[in-house]
Amino acid sequence: MSVDIRDLVVDRGHREVLHGISAHLPAGEITGILGPSGSGKTTLLRAVVGVQLVRSGSVMVLGVPAGAPELRHRVGYVAQSPSVYPDLTVTENVRFFAALQGHGPEAADRAMAAAGLDGVRRQLTADLSGGQLSRTSLACAMVGDPQVLVLDEPTVGQDPVLREELWSWFRSLAEQGRTLLVSSHVMDEANRCDRLLLVRDGSVLAHDTPSAVKASAGTEDLDEAFLRLIRRTSGEVA
Ligand SMILES: Nc1ncnc2c1ncn2[C@@H]1O[C@H](COP(=O)(O)OP(=O)(O)OP(=O)(O)O)[C@@H](O)[C@H]1O
Ligand SMILES: [Mg+2]
Repeated sequence: MSVDIRDLVVDRGHREVLHGISAHLPAGEITGILGPSGSGKTTLLRAVVGVQLVRSGSVMVLGVPAGAPELRHRVGYVAQSPSVYPDLTVTENVRFFAALQGHGPEAADRAMAAAGLDGVRRQLTADLSGGQLSRTSLACAMVGDPQVLVLDEPTVGQDPVLREELWSWFRSLAEQGRTLLVSSHVMDEANRCDRLLLVRDGSVLAHDTPSAVKASAGTEDLDEAFLRLIRRTSGEVA
């Protein structure tokens, strides 16, 4: 089992924001985290990366506690807000992150090509478009070839062609046995995941394949399925 979350409770700002979440995320699969804004997606991802203070419960990644030093090069994280150096070019940024992990310029070249950045390699990241900037963050996180990839809304601001390419890339990484955990607001992306973790107000509403989620809600439309599940748990008639 690649990522194992058990009874995770997290407080942020003196308030409980995750209320006992449990989930197994197997290797070789893409798990999509979906939920309304403020439902706790980023908090959960941070806990898997090991940068979130947790009140109770556990998160095990590749058999050791999340955030353990030996995971440093085995977990890649792309935060919701891009984290690169604005005064460096794309190539300089990606090479810097490669070097930090003991990799040479070839690894940086591969990551930039896979992220669709070949056309802007010499540009300062401060001058990039939003989509280019998030792809640069993605390349920096992927450059060390991590086993576990945690991506917080990685396709926001990308055009449909690029989104398609990024998802093909994610799929090939999963097929190579990596574990991907991807948050999204976009339901057509959710359909591309092997399994969905639907969260609402810090609790799991459903954790299943997209088709099982749709079947249990009684609709072929994932947007509608999500709304019905939310209404059901709120005690309304679906
Ligand atoms: N640094 C913080 N201090 C206090 N509360 C916080 C902090 N960060 C997040 N929260 C609260 O924790 C809850 C979960 O936030 P989180 O960022 O995990 O949501 P999210 O599902 O990722 O939302 P979005 O879709 O908008 O990115 C929210 O109620 C938010 O206001
Ligand atoms: Mg978030």
